Amino acid sequence: MKKSLKPLLLLFSLLWIACKKNDKPDIPVIDCNTTPYSLEIPFYFGMNDTVQQRLNANPLTVEGVELGRHLFYDTILSENYTISCATCHQQKYGFADPRRLSLGTQGLPGKRNAMALVNLLWTKDFFWDGRVRTLEEQVLHPIQDPLEMNMNLEALVQRLKNSPKYKSMFKKAFCTENITKELVSKALAQFVNSLISKDSKFDKYLRGEYFLTLDERIGLQLFQTHPIPGRIRGGNCGDCHFQPHFDGKGFKNNGIDSIYSDIGYQSVTGNPFDLGKFKIVTLRNIAQTAPYMHDGRFSTLEQVLEHYDKHVKLGEFTDPLIMEASNINGGAPRLFLTPTEKQQILSFLHTLTDSTFLTNPKYSSPFE
Ligand code: HEC
Ligand code: HEC
Repeated sequence: MKKSLKPLLLLFSLLWIACKKNDKPDIPVIDCNTTPYSLEIPFYFGMNDTVQQRLNANPLTVEGVELGRHLFYDTILSENYTISCATCHQQKYGFADPRRLSLGTQGLPGKRNAMALVNLLWTKDFFWDGRVRTLEEQVLHPIQDPLEMNMNLEALVQRLKNSPKYKSMFKKAFCTENITKELVSKALAQFVNSLISKDSKFDKYLRGEYFLTLDERIGLQLFQTHPIPGRIRGGNCGDCHFQPHFDGKGFKNNGIDSIYSDIGYQSVTGNPFDLGKFKIVTLRNIAQTAPYMHDGRFSTLEQVLEHYDKHVKLGEFTDPLIMEASNINGGAPRLFLTPTEKQQILSFLHTLTDSTFLTNPKYSSPFE
């Protein structure tokens, strides 16, 4: 008797699993076909588990990315139809904002400089203070932020439902008639994830398609090297800005302040040791993304270098990697770089400009 129950049980569990599979909570599925979007990812970017998990959770499709691009460039996302994501994230500036602080729908400035959007598929923490952990969640913040688009999400969904164009685009991208805020966020995240810069001179150098000039090569070496006084000269940048995206892991205090008007990462963790720490942002396309730092205080790369060379604050919270980096014994925290060395680091930073990315029609406005 017991034995004969077994196949029944098995059948039951199989049926149960099958039902679970079809049980997609919020989306009534209709018949449609999406086309997988093929990302061009160079081998040295790596496909780690996090990247793969993120792509599994929100797989990029041609239709989804296209919908995301339309949303990104559409002022329909803002309360009074005046600004789009692209108002503050402009392609020719590496998707950053050339203004020190961006203005929202009410004409009021935000609190920080708008960040470059590039290779974010490899990023784990979002915003200067890392207050958000996924891109899907991140993209809904600017829509609702009173100093940015100041838009209610339910009202936005209603607007999109009233638009025949978006009704059809959502249907194509997600095979559903039902537009939701989750799908708005998925589509926007798909577009942002598709923004990949991989054709700078530096990338071509890594692929053996370009020879760095002598200055660029020495600049790269200085950038990468932690100095040992009297033995090895270095600019120390690579201690925090890692290849291939030249961003960093975690949050650091790079010594730009000793009195803090913005406490940065501490506002997220509540830990006093995180005072004045900020995200180590990417340096890709850095020559195009001025002004620099979380509050846009430096307008040129020369000023940034001057900061790291001789104006690092001796604050109690300044990162030790900067505090003890000097090219001269007992000289910390000054690098004592020569004018030529600074020029060489700048030459190297310019090799991170990817004009293909900055002009790629795939990433540009669909409305022009
Ligand atoms: C009014 C200007 C403004 C608008 C509009 C705007 N952003 Fe931003 N964006 C910013 C600012 C400023 C930051 C940094 C804010 C902070 O860290 O506190 C930012 C940060 C980001 C980041 C984080 C990047 C990183 O490296 O952590 C992403 C992603 C982003 N925005 C995407 C978008 C998308 C998508 C839209 C449209 C839905 C959008 N933004 C609309 C100004 C804007
Ligand atoms: C201790 C870690 C650390 C070191 C070393 C370091 N940086 Fe940074 N860098 C950061 C952090 C953190 C930020 C963001 C700080 C902020 O906005 O307040 C930053 C920001 C920048 C920015 C501004 C980026 C933007 O989009 O606004 C540039 C440019 C930069 N660094 C270049 C360099 C160069 C060049 C060097 C070497 C001379 C260097 N960094 C060394 C941590 C570091």
